[in-house]
Amino acid sequence: MELTHCIYCSASAKPFTASELKTLLDECREKNAKVDVTGMLLYRDGTFFQALEGDRSVVEALFETIASDKRHNRVTKVILEQIEQRAFASWTMGYSKITAKELADIPGLNDFFAQGKSYLELGEGRAKTLLNAFKEGKWRLSLA
Ligand SMILES: Cc1cc2nc3c(=O)[nH]c(=O)nc-3n(C[C@H](O)[C@H](O)[C@H](O)COP(=O)(O)O)c2cc1C
Repeated sequence: MELTHCIYCSASAKPFTASELKTLLDECREKNAKVDVTGMLLYRDGTFFQALEGDRSVVEALFETIASDKRHNRVTKVILEQIEQRAFASWTMGYSKITAKELADIPGLNDFFAQGKSYLELGEGRAKTLLNAFKEGKWRLSLA
């Protein structure tokens, strides 16, 4: 098994309601548990940021499925690489609604989000900064 993570951003086809997000998360968690995929999902102002972790072939196939999902578009793969260990081992899919204030508090990202930019414009360096903020446990309690 080659442990891999895939990070991508996308734009929702239409704004997600709380109940639509809940439905999506329930679906993700049930399916991911079956294929040993973990990760986290952020939703903000109509854009998604998701990290998927698991065996490379499983993660690649899942990404293709997700990328063709009509509930979102502009699916942009930011990172696909081998990792030493999972950052979200205990989440079949962690979710956080993360506020503008919380984003503004991440060193290295505050200027970016203050300019009104979205996840879609993050790029690899900033995506890693965001992921690391989560890894360090900043929102671990609110993720569940
Ligand atoms: C933003 C977003 C994130 C998603 N994340 C996952 C996920 O982590 N795991 C998963 O199985 N499906 C996820 N899905 C749903 C898949 O796109 C797809 O609907 C689901 O896997 C069912 O596929 P199937 O009908 O081929 O079984 C996500 C969909 C969207 C729009």
